[in-house]
Order: sequence, then C-alpha cells, then structure tokens
Amino acid sequence: MLQPGKPLQQRPQYVIEEEIGSGGFGVTFKAIHKDLNFPVVIKTPNSRLCRDANYPKYVEGFRKEGRRLAEINKLQHPNIVRIIDFFEEDGLPCLVMDFVNGENLYHLVQDKGVLSESTAIDYIKQIAGALSICHENGIIHRDAHPGNMILRENSNTVVLIDFCLAGKMDSQSVNQSANLAFAPWEQILETEKSATIDVYTLAASLFYLVTGYIPISSLARKVFNNDLLEPKELNSRISDKLNYAIIKGLELEPQNRPQSMERWVALFSDLSGENNDNPEKYPTSQQTIIQSHPLNPKILDILILTKKIPNFPTNNHPITSSKS
Ligand SMILES: Nc1ncnc2c1ncn2[C@@H]1O[C@H](COP(=O)(O)OP(=O)(O)O)[C@@H](O)[C@H]1O
Ligand SMILES: [Mg+2]
Repeated sequence: MLQPGKPLQQRPQYVIEEEIGSGGFGVTFKAIHKDLNFPVVIKTPNSRLCRDANYPKYVEGFRKEGRRLAEINKLQHPNIVRIIDFFEEDGLPCLVMDFVNGENLYHLVQDKGVLSESTAIDYIKQIAGALSICHENGIIHRDAHPGNMILRENSNTVVLIDFCLAGKMDSQSVNQSANLAFAPWEQILETEKSATIDVYTLAASLFYLVTGYIPISSLARKVFNNDLLEPKELNSRISDKLNYAIIKGLELEPQNRPQSMERWVALFSDLSGENNDNPEKYPTSQQTIIQSHPLNPKILDILILTKKIPNFPTNNHPITSSKS
C-alpha cells in the first residue's frame, strides 16, 4: 500500500508527499521526483477494497487507464493530462502523471461561486476539444465532470484527468462506476459507448459551472419522469443560446442530443458571453427542449439536496474530495 513517507520499492526516485484525492476505487497522491525536484501524481487502486469481488476489475481498470492515456498522450493535447510512468508496487498498479498545479472546477465553483458565461464556455470548449480528439481515436471518457477538470494555476488552461472509465467505443465492457450525478441514464443502465455520453456529461458540467447546481439526475428523469430545470431558471443572466445548448446536450434520449462534440459546441461556439440574444430565436417547446414549468417542489427538493453539501455526491462514485 502506498503511504506518504514510505519509500517505493519499484521507484525509489519518487517520494510520496500527501494524499490529494480518494474516490470510491482509487487513491491519488502527490509525489516528488527527488532527483529532478519535479512534482508528479501517483494514482493507484484503493487497497482497502482488495476483498471486494470486483477488485480485480478495478485493478484492470487502472492498467487500462494507463494504456489509454499513453495512447492519447501520443496526440500531445494541451488539455489532456500527460502520463509519465507506470509500475506495480505490492501488486498494485501505479500510474504516474504530471502534477497539474491548480484546482478542479468542482471545487473552484464551490469555493468562488459560479463562473461567468464566457469563462465557463472557454473552459468547456477546451475540454470539448480534448474529448473530440479522444473520440476521433475511438475513445470515450465517460466521466468528464468538473471534478475531473483542473484549472492550471495562473492560467486559463483546463486539463482533463481521470481516464479510469475511458473505453474504446467498440469495447463490450460495462462500467457503472461513473459519477451518477453527471452521467446519462443509458451509461448507468446499459452498455452504452457512444460519444453522446460525453456530450451529456459535458453539458451537465457546463450547467454546473454557470448555475452552481448539478442538474437533476438523468435516472430520475428517466424513471420518475422528473423535469429538468432550465439553467436559466437558476441563473437568469445566462444567454438563451447557451441555455438552449446546455439543454440540447442534456436531452434525455441520446438520439436527441447533438451526435458529436463538434455539433454540440457549434450550438454556442460563437458566444462571447454577452447576453444579447433574441429569445424568439430559440424554441421552447417540450419536444425540442423542456417544458417551461413552475418550480416543481420535488425538483426543488432534489436541487436543494444536491447543492453545496460537503463531499456531494456520496452515491456510488463520489466526486473525489481533494485535500490540496
Ligand atoms: N494530475 C493531477 N494533477 C493534480 N491533481 C490531480 C491530478 N490527478 C488527480 N488530481 C486530484 O486528485 C483528485 C482525484 O483524482 P482522480 O484521478 O479524479 O481520481 P478518482 O478516480 O478518485 O476520481 C482530482 O479531483 C484532483 O483534484
Ligand atoms: Mg475523478
């Protein structure tokens, strides 16, 4: 098991400094390459789960994350975290990557409040570019929520991390451990592996960045027929165009979403962040978007429950709490 201060048998050059994240299945440490004085991140499965029947599957997931990141890294995309090394310590696979100095966007909004429309669009476009490259190479991320996007300190660059759930578009593997709050229902219930999964999760992330709320879960909409609140109802400053783009990305049925990242981004790519839209331009029929409705108390309850609760969400696979 990896621990701060405990020397690594296989890679003595790395000194583990502190745990910076701990999700359902993995633990993430900050470490220093002591010869180069260079900070890195080492991620490993959670050894406390080793008696879990699914443990071998998680371990294999880490190996796969390493291989996929290595594949994607060949593309040298500025918004995808760079992988450095991979080794096994006490039977645990360890993935070494660049330490991205900064804060993840989930914590950023928790700490500083919602982002302006133009800033949120800028960040999401960067991640959409990274995901497009992944899709072109047959890989879907499947967990592109704000906790997996790090804003580099003193810059406007956002970096996508956590490819643990990423899979080949043609793979048959089922992985239900995504962050449910940001996941489309078909990812949770079916072995779905289409790019529209990432479109949904990125639209949910954009919803969160501009409203501070996580949209009602896709499962609640699918199973209980709950309505989705338009982001504009939570933040009236959002332009109609962005409101429409978010809702289109969050369409419940995958076939009603834009079918590629590029098509989704095209819905708001010309936005400057100025709210100067003509509301007439964007239809609000239930078919194309969602029904405009009075605040439904049930939905409000869920929104209140999901808003600013420490360590939310705790169901299944929490957004990792970071100690950094
Ligand atoms: N390369 C990195 N650089 C800086 N911080 C990171 C890096 N990778 C992960 N983290 C931090 O650790 C947290 C957990 O890492 P992540 O890879 O998302 O694991 P999990 O599978 O537990 O969600 C992230 O939310 C982020 O705050
Ligand atoms: Mg994560």
